[in-house]
Amino acid sequence: MYKKLVYGLDGLFPLTNGNRVPYINFDNAATTPPFSSVLYGINHFSPYYSSVHRGTGYKSIISSHLYDEARNIVLDFVKADPKHHIAVFVKNTTEAINKLSYRLRDEIKDGIVLSTYMEHHSNDLPWRYKYNIDYVKVDVKGRLSLDHLEYLLKKYQGKVRLVALTGASNVTGYINPIHKIAELAHRYGSKILVDGAQLVPHHPVDIKPVEDPAHIDYIAFSAHKMYAPFGTGVLIAPKDTFKTGFSDHIGGGTVDLVTIDEVIWASPPEKEEAGTPNLFGVVALIESINTLKKLGMEKVAEYERRLTRYTLEKMKTIPNIILYDDGDVENKVSIISFNIDGLYHGTVATALSLEGGIGVRNGCFCAQPYVQKLLHISKEDIEKYKENRDMLRPGTVRISYGLYNDFKEVNIMIELLKEIGSKIEYYDSKYRNPPFYSK
Ligand code: ALA
Repeated sequence: MYKKLVYGLDGLFPLTNGNRVPYINFDNAATTPPFSSVLYGINHFSPYYSSVHRGTGYKSIISSHLYDEARNIVLDFVKADPKHHIAVFVKNTTEAINKLSYRLRDEIKDGIVLSTYMEHHSNDLPWRYKYNIDYVKVDVKGRLSLDHLEYLLKKYQGKVRLVALTGASNVTGYINPIHKIAELAHRYGSKILVDGAQLVPHHPVDIKPVEDPAHIDYIAFSAHKMYAPFGTGVLIAPKDTFKTGFSDHIGGGTVDLVTIDEVIWASPPEKEEAGTPNLFGVVALIESINTLKKLGMEKVAEYERRLTRYTLEKMKTIPNIILYDDGDVENKVSIISFNIDGLYHGTVATALSLEGGIGVRNGCFCAQPYVQKLLHISKEDIEKYKENRDMLRPGTVRISYGLYNDFKEVNIMIELLKEIGSKIEYYDSKYRNPPFYSK
């Protein structure tokens, strides 16, 4: 229903049988195509494009004004309070979390960070090498265990400084009850960071007023997963986070006064954004937010839930299917992970691409500990992979929808999966050595 909003959907792409078909993009959790409004916005703004915070020319004034105003639009999208929060523009969610991990040094010190087993590596590794870290477990279906979270908060007796968790998993799509978790974290004296990369593009987000015990302290997300792929991401945090100390990247734009002997830093957020900012990235994000707001995030979420529910129902009819899903569509975004028993995940993904023009992702999705849990990979298995790096590794096939995908596309995929699932030996020999594996 939203196809006309997205640019570049009308090309034809080759299959191995020589036919050309419309491309079906079911890999939106990795990156989305641009909204037409985003491309229009960039074209429209191009004649005014100039330096931000560096020039006195008319174009610089317009550019700087747009850039500053953009922060408020971004804050408003997740209902952050501009009196309390600031939006720092970065490259993507990964950079946002790395920045925060660096900026919370004084606050966390020798305290504990709780990450979880279901995180993208980007919300695990930046904490792992700087702080004492522990991980909240997931249950057999891969849902986060709130009991274990509370157990850890109690165990560390007020020493947990941060609970860093995803808003929605990039492997299963499971949405975490972030406000319930925030209440719990705050009760034990901790703050909470939500990795919003998979949640913000698909679901309404309201981080709630700071007086509310269920509020979210920090949230990060990426524009390239929300129809604005021009290299911008956002970190939203309380202003105080950046009051003392200085940024992980320093240089132009971050200072008020510099002599050979001393530096007085600019105020946040400028202090945090070294170098010329990515103005087109910000223009793109704002256009995308405006489009999403017009559509209404609740409507977007409802439409994607319908697609997901329909797909999960249809997938039950596919021979040899293994679904990594608890069926609770109300509490997940539009991501489905699966395997076909007897086929390597890369074989299935390659067959979908070359036989159906369907783009998905396979492997571990930068969330290896989570995929190892879902697939019950043992420590002994991991040792084998360490010894032989060329060995085929476990993983799943992932479908992830955007708001422009439709039921017709889902039906095409289901028919092809039925065919693949009923001819295991044929597809195994045809695509035994697939070209891609994602870690
Ligand atoms: N984190 C993105 C994904 O899950 C890249 O595919």
